[in-house]
Amino acid sequence: MDEPRFELAWTREEGAERAALGFRRTFGTDPVGVWAAPGRVNIIGEHTDYNQGLCAPIALPHCVYAAVAPSDDDTVRLSSAQLAEGELWQIPMDEVRPGNVSGWGAYVAGTIWGMRQRLMPAPAVTAYVDSCVPFGAGLSSSAALSCAFAVAEAALAGVPDSAGLRIRLVDAACDAENQIVGAPTGGLDQSASLRSARAHVLILDFLNSVARQVPFNLASARLELLVIDTKAPHQLNDGQYGSRRASCEAAARKLGVASLREVDDLDAAMRILGPDSVEGKRARHVITEIARTKEFEQIARQGCWEELGRLFQESHNSLRYDYEVTVPELDVAVESALATGAHAARMTGGGFGGSVIAVVPVERLQRVANGVSEAFAQAGFAPPAFLIGTPSAPAARVR
Ligand code: GLA
Repeated sequence: MDEPRFELAWTREEGAERAALGFRRTFGTDPVGVWAAPGRVNIIGEHTDYNQGLCAPIALPHCVYAAVAPSDDDTVRLSSAQLAEGELWQIPMDEVRPGNVSGWGAYVAGTIWGMRQRLMPAPAVTAYVDSCVPFGAGLSSSAALSCAFAVAEAALAGVPDSAGLRIRLVDAACDAENQIVGAPTGGLDQSASLRSARAHVLILDFLNSVARQVPFNLASARLELLVIDTKAPHQLNDGQYGSRRASCEAAARKLGVASLREVDDLDAAMRILGPDSVEGKRARHVITEIARTKEFEQIARQGCWEELGRLFQESHNSLRYDYEVTVPELDVAVESALATGAHAARMTGGGFGGSVIAVVPVERLQRVANGVSEAFAQAGFAPPAFLIGTPSAPAARVR
């Protein structure tokens, strides 16, 4: 077995330098500025966002960096360290509409389109993108791409930054994903990237867009948040995510409520839906996960980290057996992390692949990383990668 691989985050200075250099090499001039937006992990509250529920993400130190200048012909032109040198992704803005844009640039052009739909000024841009958010790991690299451009656009248009602006930018970035890319996701990822705060967990309430910053200082208890990228392929627009969402909406209709957030009597809901029906299982996950997220907020406020083990276990099992979005790699990562010394572990994000988070005593980090890597090798899975999930700053200008 190879040594476990840790994906280190660049400093914001380093990321800014890479993106600015790439811009100069590609376009022969300097960018107007460089903006960064972080990937995220959700501590708890999975598949609750599109049910008007609560979730609890942190921003990762790993960011997407965009070196940007306005373009003078209303065309978006993008290059990236992840493309061949000199290769461009481009589209005139008048061709951007649902069903007409493909490729990674859809997250950028889609965000500009979303802002314009919402009557926000948003110039077309020439840009160079670089990123240390792992791709396809369920850590929201694509939402981070949208959010880096959302803050860049607002700044280029001279709109002052504010909490209210960021809520509107979340909506525009969601338009890009829902309408231009065509993935029916719920807003957790974009909110995390735009509204998080360093050293805090963001308690997001999707019923009213309220966000509460709660200090999240595992380090004072000599704990770290270990993120395990299982490398199991992760896709949200292949129908599975949409079918989960459709089941929740159908369950809410049968219960006569606007969303599952309104259900306060689980037993009564199960009597109507049937506890073993698909809709019953999906609804039970959402209803209990919202309750767990409320409980998590109290735990975080009191710093009672010893409670996390049970809470994460209940969440993971609910996602595994009721929501049915785990895959063997996620289950093995959780089990092997717990077996080798993690206090708590669960899958994070949409599922169907992606990542696991584990709360681990600092001195056991290496042991847990070794243990998970070994379990993966034994199961015949590709080697996982590891990140340290320090709660970091939201999207911002970095140069
Ligand atoms: C993905 C989606 C989010 C959210 C999570 C599950 O990350 O993009 O909107 O639904 O899955 O919590």
